[in-house]
Amino acid sequence: MKKNILYLGVGLAVVFAAACTRVRKSNEGQEAVPEFVLTYAENQAEDYPTTQGAYKFKELVYERTGGKIEIQVNTSGILGDERTVIEQLQFGGVDFARVSLSPLAEFVPKLNILQMPYLYTNREHMWKVLDGPIGDDFMNSFGDSSLVPLSWYDAGARSFYNSSRPIESLKDMEGMKIRVQESALAMDTIEALGAVPVPMTYGDVYSAIQTGKINGAENNWPSYESTGHHEVARYFTRDEHTRVPEIQLVSRSTWDKLPAEYRQIIGQCARESALYERDLWADREQLSEERTRKAGCVVTELPLKEKTRFREAVAPLYKKYCSDYEDIIKAIADTGKEHSQ
Ligand code: GCU
Repeated sequence: MKKNILYLGVGLAVVFAAACTRVRKSNEGQEAVPEFVLTYAENQAEDYPTTQGAYKFKELVYERTGGKIEIQVNTSGILGDERTVIEQLQFGGVDFARVSLSPLAEFVPKLNILQMPYLYTNREHMWKVLDGPIGDDFMNSFGDSSLVPLSWYDAGARSFYNSSRPIESLKDMEGMKIRVQESALAMDTIEALGAVPVPMTYGDVYSAIQTGKINGAENNWPSYESTGHHEVARYFTRDEHTRVPEIQLVSRSTWDKLPAEYRQIIGQCARESALYERDLWADREQLSEERTRKAGCVVTELPLKEKTRFREAVAPLYKKYCSDYEDIIKAIADTGKEHSQ
């Protein structure tokens, strides 16, 4: 009998504790019920700087809206390749994304200006441009289009890598099948350098190198390392032929649904997350270089004389892509001069 009473007592205590937990959980739930649950697309892996930037953005927005906006970050391209994500953003199928300007310029051609080969002398030059009036003008030039720009993200400089041989001169580029982003400018750049451009999505590059469909690709250090491309393409040439900035975007249809107060918070959090990403970027670039060198990759520094040849080979592209924007190209160059003074 005593035993039964004991069991009954324990049973009641368990039921009571469970009920309390439920009440607490549902109270917590009520307090934190978000008004908006929004999706964010990112095609890099979890520990990549841009992904970490996305998580920072999510955290800041949640905090500052008192939990009223929850952003669900989808990494590693699970919401689709960049082109598909841009299309989805245009009608609100995806709410937020961080994308490379390269595929975006197929939708907003003026953005090609900001990623012309050899446009910036270095990282500081690019940031002086993007953080200054030129960058602001580009942000404003989206007007009331279906994409609303939020902030610039860093993606360093892009260089060539391949599975066949070190690239030490323009001659070595001849006939190389090089994967490019899905962008006319990227294709023209590779062609001007004497190689054969093969456009394909980022996620397909590893197996394309592995199976010999292409000889190589071009990207920044963190992408070269985090995707494992360095395992199948061990020759890396630091030629830094272009810097392709990245951008955080929100779909216009999502934006228009949000109260002004939330829009203001989102804009501010996006800019703060971008500064956070910029800091992470610099460290990750160094780490990725170290990791790939340790893994046995052969790194070639393109001699200055050759770099000049590369630059001359792509110079005609400025006529094709920028003849209506000579003033902006000059302003970008002048910003570089101011910077080096
Ligand atoms: C970089 C960039 C990606 C892009 C990729 C590519 O890694 O961060 O957003 O998809 O280049 O070459 O496609």
